[in-house]
Amino acid sequence: MKKPLATITATASYLPERILSNHDLEQMVETSDEWIVTRTGIRERRIAASDEYASTMGAKSALAALQKANVEPGTIDAIIVTTMTPDFLCPSTAALIQHQIGAMQAAAIDVQAACTGFLYGLSIARAWIESGAYKKVLVISTEKNSSFVDYQDRNTCVLFGDGSAAALVEDGGPGYAIRHICLGADGQQAALFTIPGGGSHSPASSETCSQGQHFMKMEGREIFKHAVRRMEASAKECLDAVGMQEADISWLIPHQANIRIIDAIAKRFAIADERVVRTIQKYGNTNSSTIPIALAELDREHAPKEGENLLLTAFGGGLTWGSAIITKVSS
Ligand code: ACO
Repeated sequence: MKKPLATITATASYLPERILSNHDLEQMVETSDEWIVTRTGIRERRIAASDEYASTMGAKSALAALQKANVEPGTIDAIIVTTMTPDFLCPSTAALIQHQIGAMQAAAIDVQAACTGFLYGLSIARAWIESGAYKKVLVISTEKNSSFVDYQDRNTCVLFGDGSAAALVEDGGPGYAIRHICLGADGQQAALFTIPGGGSHSPASSETCSQGQHFMKMEGREIFKHAVRRMEASAKECLDAVGMQEADISWLIPHQANIRIIDAIAKRFAIADERVVRTIQKYGNTNSSTIPIALAELDREHAPKEGENLLLTAFGGGLTWGSAIITKVSS
């Protein structure tokens, strides 16, 4: 029997309405629009309302993707949520979304791989589909960073935003056939990005809270050095695995953490500027959501043509990294 080809058949994103601009941040910490734009490429980011959470944003993007594909929630076999900002440590955000969208036949798990989460989630969805275990899997990336950002810390608060996107993965097209995914991690560098308090290592207490341990801590300069090197290596590994050259790539969707990292990757793979998807200027870094948000926008605004290959590449806390090659197919 022919192995099913895991294919992304629909994508959709959800971004909260409220915009936090660089000028707003100038009123909150010692920073400037000029510093943020030149060092990061970010001009504004979205912030969820107080009654919006990772789960509710994820449910909105999931329902929009299902509507596009004309698929009923009750027919979904599994939900994979990628997030590092879940509603709760327990239950999983996937279980909450399963209930919110009425996908009552679906298994549900959360995956935590920081900004590389979408590619880890996609890889699990692909394995489930190609093994024949499931036929319809939703991969939902959803992040409410604003609940974990210290708005007194200029090193992090200018970088992150909230948002969600979902991809429906099925056992055939039309859509984007998943050709290959490479994943990696280096736990030796774990200290470069942490939320130190609130876990079993340092359970939440008045002390952990007063020390701000429930907020994100990042060694930005060190992470920067690893980011370009790791994404370049994993993207090359992916191209080699499917026997493709750089020239075979029609679109590049890199993780959106810093415009200088994006431009460096584009340059190394000699990809023309207009073929590089950039959303960082309007949404900032939405962790695992950046790649599916960018994919949904590319699909909606530029409609890649049959046979065009997309290179997705990500990097994040852990450290984790990964790349994927997907190809537009009409059936
Ligand atoms: N406004 C003004 N000045 C600032 C700000 C700010 N918002 N933030 C830092 N500075 C200052 C610093 O204090 C420093 O001052 P000093 O020289 O007096 O000490 C100066 O600017 C330069 O700081 P650097 O950290 O060297 O700035 P850099 O050019 O490296 O930019 C940044 C910092 C944007 C964080 C960059 O290092 C970066 O993007 N790193 C990678 C982040 C990343 O890839 N994250 C992905 C993982 S995140 C995840 O997984 C969830």
